[in-house]
Amino acid sequence: MNVHTIGLPPEDLYPELVTFTHLNPSPVLVLDASGHVRYLNLAARELQKEFALADTDILKMLPTNILEIMRQCLESGTQARRLESQIQNRWFGWSAYGVPGGQTVYFHGADITGYKKAEKEQNELRLKLVQNDKMASIGQLAAGIAHEINNPLSFVVLNLNHISNYGRGLLSIVEQYDKVATLIKAGSMSTEVEAALAGVYDTKAQEEFEEILDELPSLLQESQDGAERIRAIVLNLKEFSHTGEGTQKDADINRCLQSTLKIVSYELKYKAKVIEQYGDIPEILCYPQELNQVFMNLLVNASHAIKQNGEIRIVTARRDEQVVIEISDTGCGIPPENLSRIFETFFTTKEVGKGTGLGLSISSEIVKKHHGRIEVESKVGIGTTFRIWLPIAHGGPRATENQHAGGHRKL
Ligand SMILES: Nc1ncnc2c1ncn2[C@@H]1O[C@H](COP(=O)(O)OP(=O)(O)O)[C@@H](O)[C@H]1O
Ligand SMILES: [Mg+2]
Repeated sequence: MNVHTIGLPPEDLYPELVTFTHLNPSPVLVLDASGHVRYLNLAARELQKEFALADTDILKMLPTNILEIMRQCLESGTQARRLESQIQNRWFGWSAYGVPGGQTVYFHGADITGYKKAEKEQNELRLKLVQNDKMASIGQLAAGIAHEINNPLSFVVLNLNHISNYGRGLLSIVEQYDKVATLIKAGSMSTEVEAALAGVYDTKAQEEFEEILDELPSLLQESQDGAERIRAIVLNLKEFSHTGEGTQKDADINRCLQSTLKIVSYELKYKAKVIEQYGDIPEILCYPQELNQVFMNLLVNASHAIKQNGEIRIVTARRDEQVVIEISDTGCGIPPENLSRIFETFFTTKEVGKGTGLGLSISSEIVKKHHGRIEVESKVGIGTTFRIWLPIAHGGPRATENQHAGGHRKL
């Protein structure tokens, strides 16, 4: 906004306005273009005292890149708003105004510590809810996962049993060979050596040496494969259950879907055929861990909706500047009276232990955070389709928050 265009108050009010500014409980600072103090109102002086700042240190109250922001304000005559700074345990929000071509910048501040604390608490609470939801979905999948681990584990245990018997056999054969070697080394009679060799052949026959040779390699290979399978499952779980929102990065949504599907498939495969139709889509700047959680919620819901012999279809495609992800099932469907409620926190039609009612509300929040939207279509007895739209280029999920922040500094 250009200061000249807003009109100035009548001149006879000036003394009162000066008093008003001076006594205003919010800090007001007037600085010259290089950041020197020209004026501080009483509230600003109080803060200066509280933080023990000399006039030359006054910029420490303001965002780190403030000189650059001031330069822009003066150049364009615009306001810079929602600048944030942190000093000791306090947070301040600032607006800065400059007259185009002028040499003075006016600052108006507000203590936003309470707001910042509430925001932090809200973020922590949200992270906790997201984590609870994640753990709940893993809990829901626990039986399938246990089964999946139990399968290879039982043949690894069985194989180890065989391997240890074979190992004992091999050891007794080696023991016999050892006797032969000792005799030869001591220069014993050839008849004694031959007798000992006969002992070797006896033991070999007794321990079924040929069978050991035949079977040992495949037993070992199988056990190794089984152990690898278990390791992969544990790794998948570990990756999925990782706490926190993770980092923001360019991710291939098709790969995210595939890796999430792996964990759910332990449960899904007994109920439904999964059809995967991955389109040619570009990478998206996102929080992949959080999107994985959305996919997990939708896939688990689909699996819950299917009694048996169902079908789950995963489709991805690019539509202009958006990526669309569709997860449909041939399950029980959602009655119209529930359709408007399914995204509510704690809305569930499932029994305790099976549903928490958190999945869809958290999923829609995560999608919103990515500037996307989630839609649902459902017909009772036919099935349900969830469709997620994510913009390809939006400068990242946190862009809007950063646009206004002028950076901050800690003393
Ligand atoms: N694919 C689906 N098919 C049928 N009903 C569904 C489907 N997805 C969600 N729902 C309904 O929406 C409700 C809320 O889902 P959600 O938020 O994931 O919580 P929860 O799965 O813990 O109940 C479910 O209880 C169910 O009634
Ligand atoms: Mg759910």
